[in-house]
Amino acid sequence: MAKIKSIEFKNFRNFENFKTSFDNKINILFGDNGCGKTNILEGISLIAKGRGIRNSNIHNLIKKKADNFRIINNIEIHKNNYDIEIFSEKSSDKFKKVIKVNNDLSKESLDFLNQSISYLIFMPEMERLFQASPSYRRNFLDRLIFSSRNDYNRLINKYKKLLLERVKILQVNSDYDWLNNIEKEICTLGLEIYNLRNHQLNFLNNELSILKNDHKFQFSVKLKIKDDFFIKDIDHQEYLSTLQNLRTHDRHYGGTKIGPHRSDVISIINDDFDASMLSTGQQKTVVLMVLLAQCNFLINNKKINPIFLFDEIGSHLDDINRQVLLDIINRFEVQFFLTGTDKNLFSFISTNAQFYNITNI
Ligand SMILES: Nc1ncnc2c1ncn2[C@@H]1O[C@H](COP(=O)(O)OP(=O)(O)O)[C@@H](O)[C@H]1O
Ligand SMILES: [Mg+2]
Repeated sequence: MAKIKSIEFKNFRNFENFKTSFDNKINILFGDNGCGKTNILEGISLIAKGRGIRNSNIHNLIKKKADNFRIINNIEIHKNNYDIEIFSEKSSDKFKKVIKVNNDLSKESLDFLNQSISYLIFMPEMERLFQASPSYRRNFLDRLIFSSRNDYNRLINKYKKLLLERVKILQVNSDYDWLNNIEKEICTLGLEIYNLRNHQLNFLNNELSILKNDHKFQFSVKLKIKDDFFIKDIDHQEYLSTLQNLRTHDRHYGGTKIGPHRSDVISIINDDFDASMLSTGQQKTVVLMVLLAQCNFLINNKKINPIFLFDEIGSHLDDINRQVLLDIINRFEVQFFLTGTDKNLFSFISTNAQFYNITNI
């Protein structure tokens, strides 16, 4: 179980020098808009794999006019303390993120860190998850998969790169040997992505059906992949021949008509209607329920206790959503980082929360 004990920023986003320690359970960061609350969550989310909650370019993380950033933090993993250092490094005009664990750069240390830390993230724009584009919902699901599978982003990126390469071959030259190989590989990776997404949804639906029996939730939620192509189990050969038959079409439109990059993830309420039909507050409940289900999945199936990063969670919380949030807080032995503009937004959290006024630090 990982707990962040302290963090220090040097030339990170709007912070030249910022240092604070954290509580093991509930940390509430409050302060005016623009004071840096989301930046702090982002800094925390950069510990271990990935590009953080904003999926930002490394370059944008560096404080304007500075050359690089540095995040130093102390983290407790299974009762042992580790000093982690994250910093930007420029090589051949490109910035990359470097992580040191107890001053060690080895792959083993990084793997250990990646396996020990996982985040559950709520960003304010997730309130509109069911109104957003399919790609936003796909990314939402992909992030959940990534939180327990370190190699998942690599798989997605490789798949996307192959799609671009295929279109380039179709439009620029017609090297059919090369094209055949790429299409085969696209189908292999595409099927892998379809399967992993379906797997994750099965786990989540199972957890969600258990949650339904909880009296706090007024409705049932079932997540489903919506995909015009992948409607039943499709094998590699069938996938490949469909893709080959689409060459003329894809050359003309400059894309790839079928595949997991075209899927949507929909949420069916009470086995009846789409979550977009619910009120805004109810949609927020559904998102929180899915995150709660994911937390159950991580703890029960993966033995990972995630760290919660909930940005602007204090705003627009009705009584039911407060109950759901309290339920999450009371149910799990995990560390929370919650933000809001006003301290009073969190008065309903009666447990010993630690408050941080970001303007005053
Ligand atoms: N690379 C950067 N250098 C300097 N300032 C930055 C950088 N990136 C973002 N900021 C500034 O950080 C400020 C705080 O952002 P944010 O964390 O989103 O605030 P909050 O979440 O508290 O409303 C913004 O005013 C933004 O302009
Ligand atoms: Mg913010």
